[in-house]
Amino acid sequence: MPVQWTAALAVGIPEIDHQHQELFRRAERLILALRAGDRSEVEPLVEYLTDYVAEHFASEERLMRSVAYPAYELHQAEHARLRADVGELASRCAEYGPNPLVTLMLHNWISDWLRRHIGSSDRALARFVHQDVR
Ligand SMILES: [Fe+2]
Ligand SMILES: [Fe+2]
Repeated sequence: MPVQWTAALAVGIPEIDHQHQELFRRAERLILALRAGDRSEVEPLVEYLTDYVAEHFASEERLMRSVAYPAYELHQAEHARLRADVGELASRCAEYGPNPLVTLMLHNWISDWLRRHIGSSDRALARFVHQDVR
């Protein structure tokens, strides 16, 4: 299954859609580097993805606070879980270097967990924001 962002994942808030696209781009670069097995290339890309995950979640959490989003805590808990998964991936990568397990973990993270979060929780947030501005 490809790890690219597709229009089916659009939530309709341009800033968030751009950030999701960037997340997929960074994850895809990391997957390619993991497959190539070059540790010196993988390490900065892990950091590059980890930083962006934190940045993106912080930005959504700011948006949720600014609109007094009722499901803030649930959404934030999902972010915490997703961030922890990336943290675990980064530490396995630091310990063992690029390997098929880390590649699979990242692939599953992006194509399963992140997709699911965007498709349900981020969409719900966007629906709320759109109602809120009307
Ligand atoms: Fe998101
Ligand atoms: Fe989110």
